[in-house]
Amino acid sequence: MDNPILPMLGIEVPILLAPMGGAVGPELVSAVSAAGGLGILPIWWEDARVGEAINELRMRTAMPFGINLNNQYDQDRHLGEAIDAGHGVVSFFWGLRPAQVLRAKDAGMTVLQSIGTAAEAREAVDAGVDIVVAQGWEAGGHVWGKVSTMALVPAVADAVPGTPVVAAGGIADGRGIAAAMAAGADAVWVGTRFLLARESMLTDERRAEVSAATEAQTIMGKDPNERWRDSAMRWIGSAPPWTAVYPPEDGWQLAGQGVGLVHKHQPAAEIVAELWAEARTTAANLPARLGLAP
Ligand SMILES: Cc1cc2nc3c(=O)[nH]c(=O)nc-3n(C[C@H](O)[C@H](O)[C@H](O)COP(=O)(O)O)c2cc1C
Repeated sequence: MDNPILPMLGIEVPILLAPMGGAVGPELVSAVSAAGGLGILPIWWEDARVGEAINELRMRTAMPFGINLNNQYDQDRHLGEAIDAGHGVVSFFWGLRPAQVLRAKDAGMTVLQSIGTAAEAREAVDAGVDIVVAQGWEAGGHVWGKVSTMALVPAVADAVPGTPVVAAGGIADGRGIAAAMAAGADAVWVGTRFLLARESMLTDERRAEVSAATEAQTIMGKDPNERWRDSAMRWIGSAPPWTAVYPPEDGWQLAGQGVGLVHKHQPAAEIVAELWAEARTTAANLPARLGLAP
């Protein structure tokens, strides 16, 4: 496969598991990595034991995996523990911290940065980032930008030629993967689809909610948590948009608009294989629809 991101990350298929706090733990990360994609572990909270988590993942899989740090918070200790463990791949989200990028690069890490505009992609690349993750508005969880995936990905690909682009937000099946790659992405970052992976940390109640929700049933609201500075986040729910309160604790699940495509409970390895097979079938069928095939 002529795709530069595969050798950069040491993976076999260009499918990255989106880090999702509360849903993605070592079991799901290692399952996606073992299936040839890249599992990425969110490990950014204050008392996170980064070194221990990396060691646990190394025992679970010999394949590459990433860790995900949150620039909303001080992550110096977290990054230091990853460097001490000799870890290879780090993803940063919620803003760019050039000093952290330099520190990770000096330690020989491959650095991914989540961005929400083409200008932010350029800043990230100027700071030394290896791979940009273009997160569109339809994404689940905390959403940094305001531009939809379909408009963002080609703009980012044009803005940073020579730097691999990973598309995130609303990609929940192989058609979405083919579309994102046609739009200029080198790989995809899939979150909501993996909420129903057998290895995800969701309870049965939350799984039922995800599998029943339609694409019209997520809303974007403001996170009232002071430390997240009123940021926007997307969840399954029925409250009016832009409420300033958390939805009731027992009645919400962060998820993206792609949730309308997510119904099956499957092992993560099966999801990876199915996504990739569907993407290839979709692409193979396109020439006829475009009037290119005999
Ligand atoms: C439950 C949930 C938790 C999330 N937590 C994180 C996180 O800890 N770190 C992060 O970078 N992104 C987080 N996100 C955003 C995802 O990494 C990703 O950008 C998003 O899920 C992609 O859109 P999709 O859900 O439509 O596939 C979260 C998303 C969800 C749904």
